[in-house]
Amino acid sequence: MTKVNGRNFIAAILAAGKGTRMKSDLPKVLHELLKKPMLWYLLNTFKKFGFSRQIIVAGHGNELLSNKFPDYRNDFVIQGTQRGTGHALQEAWPTIKATGAEFLVVANGDTPLVSAQHLETLISKATTTGVDFGLLSLKLDDPGSYGRVARDQSGRVRAVIESKDYIHGKDGPCSGEINSGIYIFRVSALAEIIFELDADNEQKEFYITQLISLAYERNMTVQAVQVGNCPELLGINNPAELVAQEEYLRAIIVDRLISNGVIIRSKDQVRIGPDAVIEPGADITGPCEIYGTSFVGRGARINSHCYLEDSSVRESEILSFSHILQCDIKNNAIIGPFTRLRPGTVMENGTRAGNFVEIKNSTIGRDSKVNHLAYIGDTEMDTEVNIGAGTITCNYDGKKKHKTIIEQQVFIGSNASLVAPVRIGRRSMVGAGSTITSDVPEDSLGIARSRQINLVDKNPLKNRKNKIKD
Ligand code: UD1
Ligand code: MG
Repeated sequence: MTKVNGRNFIAAILAAGKGTRMKSDLPKVLHELLKKPMLWYLLNTFKKFGFSRQIIVAGHGNELLSNKFPDYRNDFVIQGTQRGTGHALQEAWPTIKATGAEFLVVANGDTPLVSAQHLETLISKATTTGVDFGLLSLKLDDPGSYGRVARDQSGRVRAVIESKDYIHGKDGPCSGEINSGIYIFRVSALAEIIFELDADNEQKEFYITQLISLAYERNMTVQAVQVGNCPELLGINNPAELVAQEEYLRAIIVDRLISNGVIIRSKDQVRIGPDAVIEPGADITGPCEIYGTSFVGRGARINSHCYLEDSSVRESEILSFSHILQCDIKNNAIIGPFTRLRPGTVMENGTRAGNFVEIKNSTIGRDSKVNHLAYIGDTEMDTEVNIGAGTITCNYDGKKKHKTIIEQQVFIGSNASLVAPVRIGRRSMVGAGSTITSDVPEDSLGIARSRQINLVDKNPLKNRKNKIKD
């Protein structure tokens, strides 16, 4: 339970629906906007607002949900069959009641962009004016498939009528005021009517919105707090709405960063996740994507067609077409073009990773270079090492991964295979084309390839010269 304005609150998120209109087996609230599931946004907002706990009503794919959000495992209430939003609330009722809270805030799980400010607006209005039932309402030119707020002649909210149940002749012209699916309930008032819902409607479902007309009929205080045309509060029901909301959020994030001092070129094609931190003075060219807990520091330069996730780039340059996941790139490094850096890679100051280079779970020491066509895996590389083109570490024997250790100022010639576990000692050199299966001591030349022989007069093509025209 959480104290807001001195009152006890509990929150609930309705997230049990299958999301039939998404045409996908994934629970709707796991669909992502900028690589974060819808539910993540709501949980974050509730936390930001100050809620210490919220009930999550899950049903379709509830195991997927609790696996994705293990920290919230104890907050889930299961709605076994999905018989509507009102039914979802009924399933959560014993848990709600047990908290002893005075007020309940409910949010539809498919409204990820609701903000702490919106919650504040609803809660402060409701608690100061003493409402029993409140909701945030929007004003739209086209109310689409959203529930329509109906008022009586004195302007009091009398019902929310679902679009499928709305009959023009009976319900009159639609004012364009719609229900956002974000509600506040006085728990004692809710207790009186929550089990009076029926499924006597087009969809044969128990609607949470029927509570509004039930409350109105009982002369309870019902209020719709109008927030105008507020795109953040539009629920997501189908792929078109998902990408529209994602695009809305994307533009907000990019514009906010630009006004903070980040240079973002081709800004309409830059996608930056809500958790990424980009410092003023970073320079980014689209199209590119930066997700998760990525950090891009002042002076970093990210060129077009790059993908970064959960990675940090300080004052370094990432050239085009590079893919970087869970890596740490320090200062004065140049990565790319066409480099793939996989989880656990640390590129120390002044390092290089060039075209068609893959590095995994390795540290590349200061001023070391892996410039062309190489694979470095499970490697500890010290400073000022040079790795020749085509070199690979053979880190996997089919069962286990093994380490390669390359000490400082080592020079590995082109096309070498370093069969791990193996150590190449300081200032050593490995001859091009070698397959190194045992350690090379420091200051030595390791060479492991068959010796070249030139056989005079044995060339079967030797007479060809005559046939080739000069
Ligand atoms: C709902 C509202 C509508 C409002 C709109 C705002 C109802 C009946 N209608 O319509 O007035 O304008 O949201 O976006 O509530 N869910 C469950 N269990 C269920 C069914 C749904 O937990 O049995 C969850 C869904 O996962 C979803 C949320 O409730 O997150 C809303 O359900 P949805 O089917 O999207 O309702 P809408 O038709 O959008
Ligand atoms: Mg919806």
